[in-house]
Amino acid sequence: MIIDLHSHLIPGVDDGAQTLEDSLKLAKLAVDEGIKHIVLTPHHRNGQFNNYAETIIKQTEELQQAFDNAGISLTVYPGQEIRLTEYFMDDLFDQKLLSLDGGGKYYLIELPTKRVPSFTKEYLQMMIDQGITPIIAHPERNAEIMKDYSILQEFIDMGCIGQLTAISYSGNIGEEFLKVACDFIRLGLVQIMSSDVHHIEWRPFNMKSGYERMEQEFGIEKVQEFKDNARSIINGDDIIVNKIQTKKVKNKPKKKKRFFGLF
Ligand SMILES: [Fe+2]
Repeated sequence: MIIDLHSHLIPGVDDGAQTLEDSLKLAKLAVDEGIKHIVLTPHHRNGQFNNYAETIIKQTEELQQAFDNAGISLTVYPGQEIRLTEYFMDDLFDQKLLSLDGGGKYYLIELPTKRVPSFTKEYLQMMIDQGITPIIAHPERNAEIMKDYSILQEFIDMGCIGQLTAISYSGNIGEEFLKVACDFIRLGLVQIMSSDVHHIEWRPFNMKSGYERMEQEFGIEKVQEFKDNARSIINGDDIIVNKIQTKKVKNKPKKKKRFFGLF
């Protein structure tokens, strides 16, 4: 059984599904891939889209009804993909945010694509101090982290969770992302895999093929570990992050030393 914790299936609220027809097609594809449970995580505070808890809960109920009416055996839950900004704590206290577990433990946090803002560590620590476990969405697509894995390692060591996106691991968006995805699994820098599904052709699920690749490369135990972690998160249970594997990572290119006084 596959649980998907990151998806853009609610029609017309962000850059994911645009119509109910899109959502229904994607839901059927999910069932074909063996996905049984999906958390719906529209973008929030990403500079383009704001989606607030109360509305998402209502839209999730409506989408569940549409799936039930269409005979699609898929259970959906309200969630959110929250861009890390200075609004996080205010939104949290104003009850505008949704966790992935529905109990306020796991929040899906998005960083900008190109950089890791200077306040990131401080804000993540503020969440951890509030009893929250931040889940870093698709760290393998962040340009700064791709160049220096130790940035992500620090977040994982603080108590965050890394969420790999299946399409990065599929090889369909390039060798570079595939390499980073493999490295992150091997090094224990990601603990779950989700789809971040947006579109039936351009950004589909890739969950089934992703787990198949994982089984071939890392064994069935790794697949089970990732699936168990996804289930623990949706249930609000603790997950065990294997820190033994997160030994100091060094992929940062070394600067050439200049020998003072030779010239
Ligand atoms: Fe997303």
